Amino acid sequence: MPTSDPPSPSSPNLLLVGFMGAGKTTVGRRLARCLHWDVVDCDDLIEARAGKTISEIFADDGEDAFRDLEEEVAATLADYRHTVITTGGGIVERRANLPRLHAAGRVVYLRARPEALYARVKGSSHRPLLQVADPLARMRDLLARRAPRYEEADQIVDTDGLTVEEVVEAILR
Ligand code: S3P
Repeated sequence: MPTSDPPSPSSPNLLLVGFMGAGKTTVGRRLARCLHWDVVDCDDLIEARAGKTISEIFADDGEDAFRDLEEEVAATLADYRHTVITTGGGIVERRANLPRLHAAGRVVYLRARPEALYARVKGSSHRPLLQVADPLARMRDLLARRAPRYEEADQIVDTDGLTVEEVVEAILR
């Protein structure tokens, strides 16, 4: 059952999950500023580990290699304190990552309709999974598969029609 408890000593971090285009990075930065917390992005940690960009990892090594790195990074998240942690949309692809996210803090799912997500990501060239003929169809398929896992979050925020500030308020409320 989703709750909206504020972060507590037993939930030392806030983790944002959700599909590509859900606004995790923007909301995460704003949240961190409000809380005077740090912000860390899993994709940045993966790129630092690999010494190359996400697109290069997918192109050179394939998606499985990327997911291995993502899993390694997920295993380090419980070491953070007072940090807003933004995750890549596919972090739930590996089931083993879910308990790792929950062990690191309060998990918030930024939920949005596929059409709204598509409007935000269309034309972006740095998301390898969307470099296909019909990205919206791809997004619908991936979202259908991932949604039950995102919904295991402690809090779900329906972001359609909300401003960034309103999403932040809903999380902090
Ligand atoms: C992915 C989402 C991306 C990034 C990678 C894979 C996914 O992060 O991790 O391209 O599988 O949904 P964002 O959700 O920040 O775009």
